Amino acid sequence: MTDMLRAPAEVKYAEELDWLESIDDGPKPFSWRLSPKMVRLFVLGSERADGLDREISQKWFGDRSFVERSIVTLASDRGLLLIGDPGTGKSWLAELLAAAISRNSTLVVQGTAGTTEDHIKYSWNVSMVIAKGQSRASMIPSPIMTSMERGVIGRFEELTRSTSDVQDALISILSEKYISIPELDEDNIVFAQPGFSIIATANSRDRGVNDLSSALKRRFNFVRIPVVTNKKSEAEIVRFRTSELLRRHQIELDVPPNLLDILLQSFADLRAAAASATSDDEKLESALSTAEQIGVLEDAILHSTFFGDRTLRAETLAGSLVGSLARRSPEDLAILNKYWHGVVEPRSKEDGGDWPQFLEGGRQAIATLS
Ligand SMILES: Nc1ncnc2c1ncn2[C@@H]1O[C@H](COP(=O)(O)OP(=O)(O)OP(=O)(O)O)[C@@H](O)[C@H]1O
Ligand SMILES: [Mg+2]
Repeated sequence: MTDMLRAPAEVKYAEELDWLESIDDGPKPFSWRLSPKMVRLFVLGSERADGLDREISQKWFGDRSFVERSIVTLASDRGLLLIGDPGTGKSWLAELLAAAISRNSTLVVQGTAGTTEDHIKYSWNVSMVIAKGQSRASMIPSPIMTSMERGVIGRFEELTRSTSDVQDALISILSEKYISIPELDEDNIVFAQPGFSIIATANSRDRGVNDLSSALKRRFNFVRIPVVTNKKSEAEIVRFRTSELLRRHQIELDVPPNLLDILLQSFADLRAAAASATSDDEKLESALSTAEQIGVLEDAILHSTFFGDRTLRAETLAGSLVGSLARRSPEDLAILNKYWHGVVEPRSKEDGGDWPQFLEGGRQAIATLS
């Protein structure tokens, strides 16, 4: 189990989940593996006031009210729709909730323009149908159908990218709580067991949320996840993800706190610039999310490990920032160039520290790409 590229949360945190289950004496809705309070504790981590014998790590960073509303929704008969900008941790929160509640976060359907009703209901194993005819044995249940049968959480990623046919099929699943299989003469209804619910995610940049039918909207509670703008929480997220990454790659490398500050500061600056930009050409194409910051740091760490002397330097960080954010040429490069001249240069004179190296690394990267 340890040699998966990315273990699902219920595997990665199996030991914590076992322990929480063993001390959990709170009332559990349906067949939930943990009580709502324990689910919250698993997601947000323990505080001293919880009086536990051990620490539970914080895994999702954000306001507890979002987590509580999400948990309450899942105990109701409505589905949960997490909406937000790219990289705000929607999918990660969905995975953590499914892991804590059902010990299975892998019953997932990915919404795309090509998603069909079969993907959320069932399909057939054609060779078995030819050999033995249509029966429950030759049927292939979708992840959603499986989650209904087992009374666990099913997930639907990027709901708004799927077609209205698929969304309509979902309405009937969420309201009737069963799927009928008209091809079969008997045993032709799959009923949802108590505990079944759906966590869907939608990207607010896809602009599809408003287009969801009112019938579907009524069957979901919406929880809007804002972009983290608080530097302290953002630093925690970046640190948390980076330490996981280092462990996964078995890399021993310290991320100097001043470089983390530089990364956070430059993203904050670039976001402020994007907010005051008047046209799309003056805005980086990137959403400048926390996830993107993690990506920049990850590249810089890997670069230092593979091609450097295993010390993370400001030049490398600047190079990976420019490389990741310069997607459109010349627009993005021009924006970065302006930022480097207008902000990084004066700051490097005033603040010193690692900024001069950051200035130099960025200049070189911009020159190379221009
Ligand atoms: N609030 C957060 N707490 C913990 N990790 C976070 C948070 N926000 C982002 N991350 C990390 O950022 C990465 C991207 O998050 P995730 O895939 O969940 O974003 P998303 O909102 O689903 O984005 P998209 O709309 O692009 O699918 C993950 O590795 C996640 O752990
Ligand atoms: Mg996602």
